[in-house]
Amino acid sequence: MSLTLAIIKPDAVAAGNAGRIVAHLEQGGFTLRAIRMTRLTEAQAGEFYAVHRERPFYGELVEFMTSGPCIPMVLEAADAVPALREAIGSTDPAEAAEGTVRKLYAESKGRNAIHASDSDENAAREISFFFSESDRISTAG
Ligand code: RTP
Ligand code: MG
Repeated sequence: MSLTLAIIKPDAVAAGNAGRIVAHLEQGGFTLRAIRMTRLTEAQAGEFYAVHRERPFYGELVEFMTSGPCIPMVLEAADAVPALREAIGSTDPAEAAEGTVRKLYAESKGRNAIHASDSDENAAREISFFFSESDRISTAG
């Protein structure tokens, strides 16, 4: 088993879809290991998406991610990173497969309901960004 980070983005929280998205992921085989609600500052959103700093959509992305509360969570599954990427679907909901979170809940390529880590290395970095070790419930108990 491995861990990954998801964030229910401000559009999906505002639309009242957070609970449905958590349920969808749990039914899809992911175990919730940590969850919280937060509103990112501009500095936090900028740091989280620093890899996209030079991209044309960066300003819009930071503005969107700070526009309201979001819900970061740690999810566990076998090969959690690729499994969650598959479960959320393509960045653009118009291209997302049936049954994926973005197909079901995303409004547009920018306002696309959920984030998922794209590598084990980034998952570790992103989990530490939002959660301390003591926040996470270990299967080892
Ligand atoms: P994420 O990091 O949020 O899980 O999304 P992703 O891997 O599917 O997509 P990525 O290329 O990492 O882009 C990060 C987020 O930036 C916004 N975006 N907008 N308007 C645009 O062309 C555009 N492209 C990307 C989206 O919110 C995307 O999820
Ligand atoms: Mg990404």
